[in-house]
Amino acid sequence: MSTEAPPKVLFEVTEAHLDTGLRGYPVGTCRTSSVDPDKGVTYVGYTLEDLIEMPAEHVVYLLVNKHLPSADQAEALRRNLAHRAAVDPRVFRVLRALPKDGHPMEWLIAGLNALGMTGKTHDWKEDALNVIARISTLVAAIFRIREGRRPIEPDVSLTFAENFAHMIGIENPPDILPEYLRKFYIMHMDHGGGNLSTFVGKAIASGKADMYASLGGAMAALYGPRHGRANQECLAFVHEIGSSQPKAVEKRVREILAEGGVVYGFGHGVLRAEDPRAKIQYKFAEEHFPDNELVKTVLTLRKVVPKILKENPRIQNPYPNVDAVSGAIMTACGLIDPEYYTLLFGWSRVAGIAAQIADERTFPGKKDGLPIYRPKYVAKNQPPRTTKG
Ligand code: MLT
Repeated sequence: MSTEAPPKVLFEVTEAHLDTGLRGYPVGTCRTSSVDPDKGVTYVGYTLEDLIEMPAEHVVYLLVNKHLPSADQAEALRRNLAHRAAVDPRVFRVLRALPKDGHPMEWLIAGLNALGMTGKTHDWKEDALNVIARISTLVAAIFRIREGRRPIEPDVSLTFAENFAHMIGIENPPDILPEYLRKFYIMHMDHGGGNLSTFVGKAIASGKADMYASLGGAMAALYGPRHGRANQECLAFVHEIGSSQPKAVEKRVREILAEGGVVYGFGHGVLRAEDPRAKIQYKFAEEHFPDNELVKTVLTLRKVVPKILKENPRIQNPYPNVDAVSGAIMTACGLIDPEYYTLLFGWSRVAGIAAQIADERTFPGKKDGLPIYRPKYVAKNQPPRTTKG
């Protein structure tokens, strides 16, 4: 007779759980991050408050190696990433051939596939590091080529975030831009195993497509307005509010809701309290851009919207999420075209997804990584079979 304890029941699936987007279903384990509904995301047990003042390379190291680096290990990773950052010139040729009216995320998907065609190693861990290094070069080139400018070469002497700001090369950026990009990067890197883009990327990789094709699919998932493109939509919403005065903001928000519109930047699929990523950005915005009209508007929205949303008992989370503030700060930092905001989300999220894909493909004790994803769908409402004639 076996003495092993029976496996713990984590979740009882009933018919009511079907067709709910797998919301809350335990699917697997995740070593990089975890999302607590009240406290928000932690990376390998560290809160964003613990990590947000660190160089980006330290956090990349954490997600890849599951512990923080010593100063020497961090410097070695900085150099390692800098030396991997060059992109095959054929990738830029592919980008130059793309229609300018495509969205930057469509360019990113094409760019990732081109990166794969010109540089994959078929070693999941190597490809994860390569893509984390090359994504800055690719994303910066997307910014520049779309505007008819030449890509700027990576500068191996700079930190990860400084190098990215250098390669975007916007004219007269505020001194604070690399600092915000560093924070933006750290905050958006990972959000548990089940956010749509990460889940999709891991599912594609489970069929043993390569890292780049998996990330291309993940970025297609991120492109949707219910996921990553919400940051672009949120800035349009903030502009639509058109005032930072509490009374005017309240009136406009109520009108938008009455018209059946969406209040972008509030609520979340998992979180049930204010997103720590929003908190960090409100603080940054108040410190650096207190007189900026858009910043003042998002600060008023933070006070006004939760009260209004709480009037609806069906709303489980009336609080700001990561997208509530980023568009206002990016505009203040000189990144004025919101079409690029999801691209920046992708620039960062690729790190967490690549780390999670590498973890699932090299899972301890599984020679060939975790099995191919194959959830069950229940047959329902299928019309009865008819016979011809
Ligand atoms: C996020 O960063 O908030 C997401 O990717 C959305 C999610 O967690 O489902």
